[in-house]
Amino acid sequence: MYNFEYTNPVKIIFGKESISRLKNEIPQGSRVLMLYGGGSIKGNGVYQQVKASLKDFDHLEFAGIEPNPRYETCMKAIEMVRRENIDFLLAVGGGSVIDATKFVAAGALYSGDDPWDFFSQRYIIEPEDALPIGAVLTLPATGSEMNGNTVVTRESTREKLSFGSPKVLPGFSILDPVTVFSLPDKQVANGVVDAFIHVMEQYLTFPVNAPLQDRFAESILQTLIEEGPKVLGNRQDYDAAANFMWSATLALNGLIATGVPQDWSTHLIGHELTAFHGIDHARTLAVVLPGVMNLKRKSKQDKILQFGERIWGIKEGTIDERIDQTISRTVSFFESLGVPCRLSEYGVPEETIRKISERFKKRGSKLGEKEDIDYSQVEKILFDRM
Ligand code: NZQ
Ligand code: ZN
Repeated sequence: MYNFEYTNPVKIIFGKESISRLKNEIPQGSRVLMLYGGGSIKGNGVYQQVKASLKDFDHLEFAGIEPNPRYETCMKAIEMVRRENIDFLLAVGGGSVIDATKFVAAGALYSGDDPWDFFSQRYIIEPEDALPIGAVLTLPATGSEMNGNTVVTRESTREKLSFGSPKVLPGFSILDPVTVFSLPDKQVANGVVDAFIHVMEQYLTFPVNAPLQDRFAESILQTLIEEGPKVLGNRQDYDAAANFMWSATLALNGLIATGVPQDWSTHLIGHELTAFHGIDHARTLAVVLPGVMNLKRKSKQDKILQFGERIWGIKEGTIDERIDQTISRTVSFFESLGVPCRLSEYGVPEETIRKISERFKKRGSKLGEKEDIDYSQVEKILFDRM
């Protein structure tokens, strides 16, 4: 096992009717900005519950954060925060709203010219400070409610980039599984696939003798495989919704990444597909992951075989046959949730693959746990998925 440090200070308040506990978590006297998306929270009662809990706080609203939140929109929120002397941010929504809020929290206190620097100069320019954040999660998927990552898209340049900082960790996140009841099928499927692939990015690398982390990871995968279809089949199944919600949070709160190598190539390639074609985040991952597994079948061999055997019960055949079966079972699982896994099914032309490969070439990117996926391999992975 590798050496590691692990801190996760996010307070999780989980369960039915937990949204009303908001008022106890925000410091008294705060001037709050509530940020949300396109209005789903007004249809499912979450807005009303949040407003009731905020009634004794001086607060304003910022609505209209898009899925795959836009830099341009976040900059408007930053302006508002500065103009209105806001000192607490409350994100109410899915990963997009929480991510946007993190960027706003750090951007509002940035002394440089353009807070996009956090993304474009990641690891060089990092937030020195950020406003405090609380979150009410309405969509289990990204883990944003319990991590310090944010992903934002800049419309003008069609770039989708991320940064991570402990400064933007939410102080608390409220997870009420009842919010799942109003999710459309597509978002449930996206959430299951995104959480599943978060686990894969931290698990499907090479063995470092970390059996506990492996089994944590496998238990999350197994739970998503069992509970995801239950949620899709019956949106009112509270227990299934709760199991799905907690699995998605644990998939990306840093726990299963302790002491093990991490890949993240599927995400970095997937982000480009969203940047160029606006395809839902999880769907890009369902397309790319099988290509990464196929291309990296040698360097990931031990973990693919372990995953195939422990998760899908694949024990028979040559090594290559078992790897092929494992990839195909994984694809079938995504497809069974209604998520297509081929680029052609999203109307992506070959020209996009060349543009993406060109971007990675220019950036000099080397992806994957061994940093051995360069632009030409990215191109191979994507052509394999046409
Ligand atoms: O905008 P509203 O009207 O609220 O509707 C949203 C949106 O249209 C809707 N929705 C959310 N909760 C709902 C609901 N509809 C009905 N009932 C509810 N309870 O769902 C749609 C999608 O929401 P969004 O927040 O975009 O989805 P998700 O949570 O999947 O977030 C995706 C974003 O997170 C980033 C992705 O790249 C993408 O930009 N990610 C963030 C990560 C992180 N911070 O760690 C990691 C991930 O890998 C990912 O990259
Ligand atoms: Zn993801």
